[in-house]
Amino acid sequence: MSTKKAKMIVEKDFKVSEVDKRVYGSFVEHLGRAVYGGIYEPDHPTANEQGFRQDVIELVKELDVPLVRYPGGNFVSGYNWEDGVGPKKDRPRRLELAWRTIETNEIGTNEFMDWAKLVNADVNMAVNLGTRGADAARNLVEYCNHPSGTYYSDLRRSHGYQDPHNIKTWCLGNEMDGPWQMGQKTAVEYGRIANEAGKVMKLVDPTIELVACGSSSRTMPTFADWEATVLDLSYDQVDFISLHQYYGNRDNDVANYLARTLEMEDFIQSVISIADYIKAKKRSKKTINLSFDEWNVWYHSNEADQKIEPWSIAPPQLEDIYNFEDALLVGSMLITLLKHADRVKIACMAQLVNVIAPIMTENGGPAWKQTIFYPYMHASKYGRGTVLNPIVSSPKYDSKDFTDVPVLDTTAVYNEEQEELTIFAVNRDLEDCLQLDCDIRNFADYKIVEHIVLENDNLKQVNTATKQAVVPHTNGNASLDNGLITASLPKLSWNVIRLKKS
Ligand code: AHR
Repeated sequence: MSTKKAKMIVEKDFKVSEVDKRVYGSFVEHLGRAVYGGIYEPDHPTANEQGFRQDVIELVKELDVPLVRYPGGNFVSGYNWEDGVGPKKDRPRRLELAWRTIETNEIGTNEFMDWAKLVNADVNMAVNLGTRGADAARNLVEYCNHPSGTYYSDLRRSHGYQDPHNIKTWCLGNEMDGPWQMGQKTAVEYGRIANEAGKVMKLVDPTIELVACGSSSRTMPTFADWEATVLDLSYDQVDFISLHQYYGNRDNDVANYLARTLEMEDFIQSVISIADYIKAKKRSKKTINLSFDEWNVWYHSNEADQKIEPWSIAPPQLEDIYNFEDALLVGSMLITLLKHADRVKIACMAQLVNVIAPIMTENGGPAWKQTIFYPYMHASKYGRGTVLNPIVSSPKYDSKDFTDVPVLDTTAVYNEEQEELTIFAVNRDLEDCLQLDCDIRNFADYKIVEHIVLENDNLKQVNTATKQAVVPHTNGNASLDNGLITASLPKLSWNVIRLKKS
């Protein structure tokens, strides 16, 4: 075994930006067992009086998720929000056309807001711009955010919610460019409705922030033109443009799979360029930021999902069981988001429970942590503060689709208030450990708190309800001498080197 070497300089004043905590957001859709059997299971031994699973609440709190997107996803494009409020006995059962199931509407807006409070999260609420439009959207804003004295605010009060929910972030539909979407639109059609729906929503509550749908992925044929047209038509009303991207190691090429974040990087950079092109075209002072509101690995469950019988209630759907290599890619995706903290202000791991999720549940049984739980938790817990821009020199490799892939993928976050510095690093090398020399020059009185490592001999190792086979340890060997951290990052590993002022 040889040892490769990488160098890095972390300097306090080389700042990317403050981290917006919403970058550690997640997503709960009415899909599969995310809601029913996930966050909500009234017969479960840990269920509270509202039927919410306490064991799931505890795991979500461990992740410290600040924002949860809801209620979809593809689901929202056929959703009547009115079906999910008021007395439960009067709520209709509906054919749910996005995922071909039955929606019972036992959980709706108010219950979800209650759940979000229990996990200390804000909600990123999506409105239906597929089968519905501006009218239903503005009514929902009135229902949620207006204090009282109008039809919809008083309706909310009659449903037992005296105080407004005060939801700040709203998504103007979901993946409206996709042929699979109910009410798919051309960029011009969508740009117009985003503008008009956004306008009336902001007339109801001018304090809200709006996310316009970008492309469903970078590979969509309309990508780039879509963003440009939509922003051209809705620039004054919207605050964010969304990005969605999922990856999978379909051809079992790990080196290539772990390099996918170079593509993600390119995607982010392209959307920034498009948003700024429209800004320039309009001679506008306003900057549109990015909401990467669906990102993750998604492919393990694709085949199983083909076999689901339609029109059942909460069947297991999109239940990817993640392995160790997926956790490495998720770590890299988090690093990529952080590197763009100046423009990516919202990001939602899709999703949170059971559906392509870090948290899984057994119906009636335990809740457990998937492999990807760990990098997400580390970033959310230790990645608050200011993202720094380290100077990195790393060996590189070429893979099937990428050239010059840095073996070391890394970033650093400085928490001035807590006097903490955290270095996140993935060693992408398949064979060798990477010897890291990291100069932290002006962090003079800092000491290493711990060096967390997620590693495993088996790239395909998964966790299950009964066995946590992929878990981090704190036996990393990072040491600090005279302002220089030296550490060996094991081959194929996720590393978190934590320092604190002594
Ligand atoms: O997260 C699963 C699905 O992926 C969402 O419903 C949709 O927006 C995307 O295609």
